[in-house]
Amino acid sequence: MNRENKDWWKSAVVYQIYPRSFQDSNGDGIGDLKGIIRRLDYLNTLGIDIIWLSPVYDSPNDDNGYDISDYRGIMSEFGTMEDFDLLLQEIHNRGMKLVMDMVVNHTSDEHAWFQEAKKSKDNAYRDYYIWRKGKDSMPPNNWISMFGGTAWEYDEKTEEYYLHLFGKKQPDLNWENEIVRKEVYEIMNWWVKKGVDGFRMDVINFISKVPGLPESADGNGKPYYENGPRIHEYLREMNREVVENNGLVMIGEMPDVCTKDAVLYTNPARKELDMVFSFEHVEVGYGEYGKWSVGPWKLTELKGIFGKWQNELNEEGWNSLYWSNHDQPRAVSRFGDDREEYREVSAKMLAVCLHMMKGTPFIFQGEELGMTNTRFTSIQEHRDIEILTGYKEYCKTGLIPESEFMQAAYEHGRDNARVPVAWDDTVNGGFTDKKPWIKVSDKYKTINVKKNLEAPDSVFYFYKRLIELRHSEKIIVDGDFRMLCEKDEDIFAYTRSLADKTWLIACNFSCYNRKFTIPLEHFDDPGVIIANYTDFTVQSSVIELRPYEAVVLEIHI
Ligand code: GLC
Ligand code: CA
Repeated sequence: MNRENKDWWKSAVVYQIYPRSFQDSNGDGIGDLKGIIRRLDYLNTLGIDIIWLSPVYDSPNDDNGYDISDYRGIMSEFGTMEDFDLLLQEIHNRGMKLVMDMVVNHTSDEHAWFQEAKKSKDNAYRDYYIWRKGKDSMPPNNWISMFGGTAWEYDEKTEEYYLHLFGKKQPDLNWENEIVRKEVYEIMNWWVKKGVDGFRMDVINFISKVPGLPESADGNGKPYYENGPRIHEYLREMNREVVENNGLVMIGEMPDVCTKDAVLYTNPARKELDMVFSFEHVEVGYGEYGKWSVGPWKLTELKGIFGKWQNELNEEGWNSLYWSNHDQPRAVSRFGDDREEYREVSAKMLAVCLHMMKGTPFIFQGEELGMTNTRFTSIQEHRDIEILTGYKEYCKTGLIPESEFMQAAYEHGRDNARVPVAWDDTVNGGFTDKKPWIKVSDKYKTINVKKNLEAPDSVFYFYKRLIELRHSEKIIVDGDFRMLCEKDEDIFAYTRSLADKTWLIACNFSCYNRKFTIPLEHFDDPGVIIANYTDFTVQSSVIELRPYEAVVLEIHI
């Protein structure tokens, strides 16, 4: 894959590494850069093109690295800058690319800028952050932080509040300040010079706040900081200062982004970003308290969302495709069926469904093994700041009964993804031989890399085949998308077509047998491109899909 080819990332598959939970190399229970280097051949075997590395910069780890205290330093728990340089070189040696996670909506409160800023009102760094006076001994406005509670923290010394849309140790940067923007671009260029191949920009649609930071009707400040007034201007400036002519891939994480905005962000002519992560599809079934309410969801809702994104970004713009990441539960538990009899087949079905759509697919570590959610037996076992603050906000206050909160954390919580990758069936799944920083999956004896590599029909090899297909078949990259049987609650089916070629993708999301009619006037024996049951054959235009069966057929219209 060559960065000189414009759009090189369109035929790429990205693999996300959450370094803390990937592979420990020195027995301190924490994954590290040397551990990643040790496992690069594994990733190369899988066939992925790009590694997205969650933050590895210096950080006090209040939000596991999404609170950066030095953008040009490596967190000592993860290793050294020499380790990083070697990692980058080893990735490039294997023909893969590296995308860094850049968190610049906020820094850590331990960043030197903030340490200076809080010294006095006239400190040169004061304006790097967003400070306001309180209102009658109350915070400046009623915005609520993403992790719960007020989004403002009072600073005794200077008698002002600072804004933090996430934890109180994550003060928001003031992007209105042009010096801040210059600093950010310098940091990014520093990494570009090292040779990194792109950035995943953390909550990047939060950086432009509506001037005056207006009070909101219901405490939800989102309308005043999501997709704010200067966001497109900032992104174009970033593009000019960092990206232009560098062939980097730029991915923006964007909560609450809609398709109309996404087209603006990702239309190449506008020179902002290459693709964005939207959230609609991972929020199906969320209830009154968002992820802390567990509700049923319908396949028609999910299809409606994917269909809309596929159609509206078809001409201009580009989709990112994902089921899971470090902020989401495990794909097979959330959207498939993690009962052991169905786990592998439904994991493969989900992979087909996602990887055959138009866009760049992302695999989160362990997804390619069919890893499942993990039961945490008490709140003390949890590590995630979102779960811990959510517990205080919703559970301690009596809004949600404890058992319901724990169930929601089990079904939607971020710690599911942060449980270490299981490499084999030895102690702690081969992640570490000492005490791991977070509990390991209780299923590591059955679900691990070693087992997957030994079984030719494993989830791993199925992902590998899907990746190979994307590399060899232009129809997967460029073909037009058309949703079929939109009202069906069990079957997710669509076609892709390019020139005179048409592929039909049909996935049964239920644990029952379901009939599906191939939309053809005259039945003509189709070719099977890939299927998750090895004995699948087509006899007539009506096929019976078994539980979680997924097939890709070339049909002749
Ligand atoms: C993003 C990250 C998440 C983090 C938050 C604050 O959503 O993916 O892990 O907590 O931003 O940086
Ligand atoms: Ca370690």
